[in-house]
Amino acid sequence: MSYPPVINRPEKLTSVETPKKDALGRPIRVACVTCHSLRPDAPLPQSAGELREFHEGLRFTHGTLTCASCHVPGRVDQLSMADGRTIEMLDVIELCSQCHGQKRRAFDRGAHGGMMGYWDSSRGPKLRHNCVDCHDPHTPAFAGGQPVLRPNDRGLRQGGGH
Ligand code: HEC
Ligand code: HEC
Ligand code: HEC
Ligand code: HEC
Repeated sequence: MSYPPVINRPEKLTSVETPKKDALGRPIRVACVTCHSLRPDAPLPQSAGELREFHEGLRFTHGTLTCASCHVPGRVDQLSMADGRTIEMLDVIELCSQCHGQKRRAFDRGAHGGMMGYWDSSRGPKLRHNCVDCHDPHTPAFAGGQPVLRPNDRGLRQGGGH
């Protein structure tokens, strides 16, 4: 038998960090839907600068994309595909792949995006970083630093080189 690879799904896909800390000193997170289920449906902003009440300071530099290239008005748990379908926010890698197919194919071969976990897929799954572990979807140019997913064995291959 062969275990399929497991792609990391970072917390930032479903919640945001607050300045408050829990008893162990870890930042308390609030789920996107906690606020957005209470918000009346609003149209997507035309630019990041329109965000004043919350998410202030969001920067955006991603080709000529608009907020609606990815977001679904009124649904923070979903993303909008080019063909009009919506997918779960957690499946963000499928969104990236429709425009960056070459990188996705390199990723599937293990030549982009790094790899952890079991090298022998009959013993356990390979663990893969998510595109958004390394690339902020709003400012995707690679900023450097280490992805947040910690290695769990010595098979870690660093970084994302091509
Ligand atoms: C603490 C409450 C809160 C949380 C948590 C939160 N949001 Fe928001 N969000 C807001 C508010 C308030 C606005 C409107 C800001 C404005 O227009 O000035 C907003 C605006 C947005 C918008 C612009 C479109 C719209 O509906 O106005 C998007 C997209 C968005 N949020 C996505 C998310 C995602 C994704 C998460 C989780 C990763 C999240 N939000 C978490 C409160 C929140
Ligand atoms: C390429 C796809 C893409 C585009 C274009 C995009 N977003 Fe997002 N956005 C995401 C994803 C994916 C998340 C989930 C959290 C993360 O990975 O940062 C997110 C999260 C957010 C959040 C909540 C958390 C945060 O990062 O602050 C807000 C607010 C938001 N987007 C607003 C916008 C606005 C406003 C625009 C247009 C100026 C926009 N987004 C354009 C993909 C996109
Ligand atoms: C609708 C098409 C589309 C989607 C969806 C999309 N991108 Fe892009 N992306 C572009 C375009 C267009 C550019 C800029 C053109 C170029 O210079 O290659 C770009 C540029 C980039 C770059 C290079 C940035 C730079 O300045 O060097 C990265 C990295 C990137 N995208 C990652 C992502 C990730 C990660 C996702 C998913 C969250 C994503 N993209 C989703 C179209 C898209
Ligand atoms: C472990 C971190 C990591 C992951 C995961 C990752 N990348 Fe990258 N990516 C990088 C680095 C580093 C660069 C810039 C250096 C380079 O081009 O080799 C880059 C560059 C890119 C570029 C710009 C390349 C160019 O030729 O201009 C795109 C587009 C891109 N990545 C898309 C993706 C997509 C889509 C995914 C998910 C399928 C992904 N990346 C996953 C680290 C990562």
